[in-house]
Amino acid sequence: MTQDELKALVGRAALQQVVPGSVVGVGTGSTVNHFIDALAGMKGQIAGAVSSSEQSTRRLQALGIEVLDSNRVERIPVYVDGADEIDGRGFMIKGGGGALTREKIVADLAERFVCIVDASKQVAVLGAFGLPVEVIPMAAAQVSRRLAALGARVVPREGFVTDNGGHVLMAHGLAIDDPLALECRINQWPGVITVGLFAQHKATLCLLGTPQGVQTLHY
Ligand code: A5P
Repeated sequence: MTQDELKALVGRAALQQVVPGSVVGVGTGSTVNHFIDALAGMKGQIAGAVSSSEQSTRRLQALGIEVLDSNRVERIPVYVDGADEIDGRGFMIKGGGGALTREKIVADLAERFVCIVDASKQVAVLGAFGLPVEVIPMAAAQVSRRLAALGARVVPREGFVTDNGGHVLMAHGLAIDDPLALECRINQWPGVITVGLFAQHKATLCLLGTPQGVQTLHY
């Protein structure tokens, strides 16, 4: 199976996690696009979606799924999103698509985080992908210096502006053995909007797409 077929497999499998009658939290990315397409088949059974990006909002609305303002939703049972890496404890790196801030906001509204990934995203130690950090533009140089002091090689995503007007720095070369501590540390730096470590908001379960089928991992 191709990587895209594995993404489609888990995108469809995530439908079983949706609670009928509820609002669904929807992530961003190529894997989630498959989930959104599948969700259209049960749009009459849900109360709408809270979206984590303009990209996902456009796709949801094009398929006739109502997108609700996150400020009008107090709690959602399930948030479905992909990841760039997930470790054996359900900690993730996210933000390869630049939607990390809104993804973390919607994850924070959710009781359960359902991570949908193909098997290539499963890692022993987070970091090989690079760690995205969204910053207020005037803080980019100082945050880059701080990341470099941790041992990272920092590459700004040139010309990319997030849905929130932020810039994204990619920190390469970090072996992240304590994701919770690093997330807390980077969160303290002035000008950081969001770090793409999802440790405080880790996965509750992962639907892992493998050539043998979907594996369900609980954390
Ligand atoms: C978007 O900003 C990311 O967090 C995505 O969830 C992540 O990059 C996974 O994307 P794909 O499903 O496209 O691999």
